[in-house]
Amino acid sequence: LQLLSVAGEMYPFIKTGGLGDVVGSLPTVLGQHGIDTRTVLPGYPAVLRALSEPQKIIRIDNVLGHAVTLREGWAQGRHLYIVDVPDLYARPGNPYLAPDGQPWADNGMRYAVLCRVAAMIGTGALADWKPDAVLSHDWHAGLVATYLKYMDAPTPPVAHVIHNLAFQGLFPRDMMGAFGLPDQAYDSGDVEFYGQIGFMKAALQVSHRLISVSPTYAEEIQTPEEGMGLDGILRSRANVLTGILNGIDLREWNPLTDPAVFFPYAVGDLAARRANKRVFQAEFGLPQNPDALLLGMVSRLTTQKGADLLAGLAPRLFEENIQLAVVGTGDRDIMQSFTQLQGRYPKNCVCHMRYSETLGHRLHSAVDASIIPSRFEPCGLTQFHAMRYGSVPIAARVGGLSDTLVDANSAAVMEGVANGILFPRPRKTPCFWPSAGHRICSVRKPSGRGCSATVPCMTSPGIPRARSMPVS
Ligand code: ADP
Ligand code: GLC
Repeated sequence: LQLLSVAGEMYPFIKTGGLGDVVGSLPTVLGQHGIDTRTVLPGYPAVLRALSEPQKIIRIDNVLGHAVTLREGWAQGRHLYIVDVPDLYARPGNPYLAPDGQPWADNGMRYAVLCRVAAMIGTGALADWKPDAVLSHDWHAGLVATYLKYMDAPTPPVAHVIHNLAFQGLFPRDMMGAFGLPDQAYDSGDVEFYGQIGFMKAALQVSHRLISVSPTYAEEIQTPEEGMGLDGILRSRANVLTGILNGIDLREWNPLTDPAVFFPYAVGDLAARRANKRVFQAEFGLPQNPDALLLGMVSRLTTQKGADLLAGLAPRLFEENIQLAVVGTGDRDIMQSFTQLQGRYPKNCVCHMRYSETLGHRLHSAVDASIIPSRFEPCGLTQFHAMRYGSVPIAARVGGLSDTLVDANSAAVMEGVANGILFPRPRKTPCFWPSAGHRICSVRKPSGRGCSATVPCMTSPGIPRARSMPVS
């Protein structure tokens, strides 16, 4: 089977979160099942740098008004098609956000061009290769199925992977022409979402199959509470929606061979873990107290991840012999709370507010437990990282966390099947979920996945209102 995977990021070239990890792992894993997976990516500088020679170059004069150089080649074992349009993608740093932390103003066009080129490959634009099926990921690739639907050619089926429904890719209706979409696509409801063009909505409506990244998330998103305004369409497509649990790359995450780990170790080697904890405490400037319970978090610092809840609770934790190490970036307010905590409790709390793969890996080799208080979690990968490195995940019972962790209640411990600690779903905040009585928060905040953070929803029958989404 020939599969075309389409995404906005891919580890190890460019990554903002688990989406990149999963897109980066798929070609190898599917290859083991005889599936030839090739990935279409935007030509960000980091991706172009990674591509090795020789490259095959195909020029396409006009894709939505842009001249595209399509570069085919290999990078670290992955077969890539890179959509090279310097005007759109030659921007270093975060793929979705400008240096001021706001989404790039032309994100709609940037990802529409990606989707359009992928659809052209899908319909046979390349002389030597045509996919049997297309896998599109999240809102960035959300228009692929729609472009294919309105093309006058035999098209491959599309399965759309929902990594996170909170990021929906909403753009003004008057972009229909610029996106090269026929009016019919709007009028029929294929791309229309409360008066705007919704990339994620389009994917949910038009794709042949829908995949969410855990079975529980597949159920949750069909409810009004968790469906982010898209639960109705998901219920109507329940017959093609499947939850398939993510995994992690066990070669990338191996404490015996990981260069980020001070003292490499195999499962069960507690002496090495104690040594790692000691050196890590020193590196992070925490007292080298072996008896302190060292908690860790590697995460986007956002309301989705419950990072604000952890910051609020931390002073109570620090009354006990507890230390907290955080590696993460995200919402400005939440980062400020962690900075204040660190100032007030220097012996208990250290936060590295940046993106660092090395620190992210090392943390799991040293901490006693990883704390994951997500309000919602489509799958989550850090619980796998914790388990792989022998730290205990302490997580909210939501989404993929509840599919992967068995709470250490007495029955599970007696059976020897416990692998973490689960606590009840944290309460929602008015900010994400206004209901009739709440003041509507319609401020458009930047979101780490590069799209609008505010979507319309119906809070009472017939009255469209704005709903502020979790931001990153
Ligand atoms: P999400 O995709 O929602 O952010 P996941 O748990 O699925 O959450 O994946 C997050 C990925 O990003 C993990 O590989 C995690 O280690 C990594 N990560 C998140 N923040 C950082 C950071 N500041 N530094 C290094 N790695 C990070
Ligand atoms: C999303 C989700 C996360 C999931 C990841 C990879 O970013 O927030 O839960 O693990 O995608 O699928």
